[in-house]
Parts: sequence; C-alpha cells; structure tokens
Amino acid sequence: MADNTVHVAAASASYNITIGAGVLKTAGARLKPLLASRKICIVTDAQVAKIHLIDTMKALEAAGFTPAPPIILPAGEETKSFDHLQYIIEKCLSYKLDRKSTLIALGGGVVGDITGFAAAMLLRGVPFVQIPTTLLAQVDSSVGGKTAINTKHGKNLVGAFYQPKAVLIDTETLTTLPERERRAGYAEIVKYALINDAAFFDWLEANGKAVLAGDVAALSEAVRVSCQSKADIVAADETETKDIRALLNLGHTFGHALEAIGKFDGRLLHGEAVGIGIKLAFDFSVALGLCPAEDAGKVARHLKNLELMTKAPFTAGADEVLEKMRGDKKAEDGKLTLILARGIGRSFVARDVDAAALAAFLQKNFVS
Ligand code: NAD
Ligand code: GLY
Repeated sequence: MADNTVHVAAASASYNITIGAGVLKTAGARLKPLLASRKICIVTDAQVAKIHLIDTMKALEAAGFTPAPPIILPAGEETKSFDHLQYIIEKCLSYKLDRKSTLIALGGGVVGDITGFAAAMLLRGVPFVQIPTTLLAQVDSSVGGKTAINTKHGKNLVGAFYQPKAVLIDTETLTTLPERERRAGYAEIVKYALINDAAFFDWLEANGKAVLAGDVAALSEAVRVSCQSKADIVAADETETKDIRALLNLGHTFGHALEAIGKFDGRLLHGEAVGIGIKLAFDFSVALGLCPAEDAGKVARHLKNLELMTKAPFTAGADEVLEKMRGDKKAEDGKLTLILARGIGRSFVARDVDAAALAAFLQKNFVS
C-alpha cells in the first residue's frame, strides 16, 4: 500500500505528515532533505527503546546522520515533568548540540510533548521531528505543535506552540502496542468524527473493529482522516484563539478532571479519560436540551461496542470533578468553557456554561 501524505499549513510553519507501514526503516532518507545538520539526538522512553530504538538509529545512520547517545526517559505520564525537561536539556547541552541539531521524539504523546517543549527552549529553539509510536500520538499529539509538561496544578499547564519539521508515522509500530493503549488512542479518532464529520462516524461504526484489530487498510485510513482533520483545524487556528482548535478538546475538560483525580497512576490513561469525557460531554449536551438523546445513545453504543472505557475505574466525587474542571485552561474569569454538541459531527465551544446545571449533572454521574 502506498504511503499517504498530509500537509500541515500552520501559520508559523508548514510540514508534511507521512503515513505508511514500514516508514521507520526509511526515516533517515526521508529526513535528510529536510534537516540542515546531520547531528541529531533521539529522545524516547524505556519501553519504546526496547522495541524500536535500534531500528530507528540504524535507519538514521544509514542516511549519514550522527546520533548523539539517545536520551531514554521512564515510560509514563509522570515523565512530563520539570525534572525530566531539565534532564533532556542538560543532556543536549552536554552533547554540544547546536542550533541546527535536531531532536527526534520517538514514542507516544508523553515523549512527543516533552521533547517538543525541550526543542522549543533549547538554545531558544532547535528543530524537532515527531516519530509517534502510539495510536494516540499518531492521530493527535504528534500533529499541530502543542508541546507541554504537567505540574502539580494540572496537566499541560506549561508548554509552547512549537511545530515539528516533519511527522513520520509508521503504522507497523502499532503491532507492538498493548491493546489497552490502542483503545485509548481510538477515543481521539472518534473525537474527530464527533467534532465535525458525521460521515467519518458512520465509517467508524462500520470499520472501528478493523481499526482496533490492526487491519492495515482500515488503520491507515483512520490515521489519515484523523491527521487531515487535525491539519485543517490547526491551519485555521494554530494557537487556539478563534474557537476552532478548542474543538479538539471535546471530552477533555471532563477527562482531564478525572485524570487528575486518578493522580496519573496508570489506572486511567489519557485516551481512556477522553473516551469517558466524550460520553459525558454528549450526555451533558442532552441534559441541556442541546443534543438529541438518540445521538448521545449512538455515541455511547459505539464506545461500548468497541470496549472503550465509559466510566472511571475509581470513585470520583461530583464536587472534586467540578473543582478540577474549574481549573481547566479554557476557563476564563472563573467561567467554564466546555466543548458541547448539537449532535454527531456538530460540536461547538460553549462559553459561560450554566454552573448549576453542570453541578446537577455531575451529582447524577458521580458520588455526591
Ligand atoms: P504514552 O506516551 O505514555 O505511551 C503509552 C505507553 O505505550 C507507554 O508506556 C509507552 O512506553 C508505550 N509505547 C509507546 N509506543 C509503543 C509501541 N509501539 N509498542 C509498545 N509500547 C509502546 O501515552 P500516549 O497515550 O501516547 O500519550 C498521552 C500523552 O499525550 C498525554 O500526556 C497527553 O496529554 C498527550 N497529548 C498531547 C496532545 C498534543 O496535542 N500535544 C494531544 C493528545 C494527547
Ligand atoms: N489535542 C488538542 C490540540 O492539539 O489542540
């Protein structure tokens, strides 16, 4: 099957996303014309390093690149921290990387987010490339230039908009991805359909199981459509100032609140939280009289049919969910902004959400 290319024309930079099976083996040849220096440094995590690091190094060396010793971080959300950011930057400085040297993020969204942020800051900005190896990172986090770390105050609260030079997506890397991680990534795929593409939702209803089973054609198509959808949104509103990119946060305000309550200890993955959040966003839209119950029912059935998580695996109190939601980045002057839906493919940014209605909705869905 031929590779697919999706072009991202963001205001600050444009670049291509290459999608195909086996792309990793030719990563060096693909990157050579794009990068000014042969000096690179791969940042990855311990789990991905075991499986994909050697092949990546070989592919880059074969094209004449001279990789610095790879920077290998612990796997998991806790790695998106100030401490690990400092570790990456100090390693890079000790390797005497210069302004043309390129950081290569090889891994999931955790590695991509922190490496991108390190690249944005190192020497006031060095080039970086995303080689995403989770489904979530291939359809979402590697595209669009949001980079960040977490703090004790919440997720992704410190970061930068900083676009990569290229995104290389090898769908074959997903064959080693645990099934749970695949399902978590799938939630971000459904998200695109629910934002503005009802036809894609119909396609997912027919092909979602094949996507999750790793069927090459179905998987490539789902990744291509998702990347195109994100590329279009990022081209229209790179820095989330026009109420367009914010739509990508469908399910995220509920989801981030649950992730924070779960303390990022592995019980609830980011993509799982997004799946639960999507269901809650549709149910709340129904409760406000905005969305037909039939559409919310279809969404809930789809998530259930594909065995996605639709309830937090721990007890959460309605008040603590509300409190965490108030700390969301989209909140303005203490007023909550949520992404709600008028139906499948008809999501919108809802400002100044009725706090009493939200509190009542949370009381019904969480422990009082
Ligand atoms: P992750 O990076 O933690 O990866 C999940 C797990 O899969 C890790 O243990 C990793 O080692 C392992 N793994 C990765 N690739 C593998 C492979 N091919 N085979 C076997 N194991 C593999 O999690 P994620 O779900 O990829 O990313 C979640 C992060 O992405 C969150 O921090 C979230 O905030 C962020 N995110 C960012 C954006 C953005 O626009 N920047 C968008 C969505 C999510
Ligand atoms: N995942 C949200 C964004 O990229 O804007």
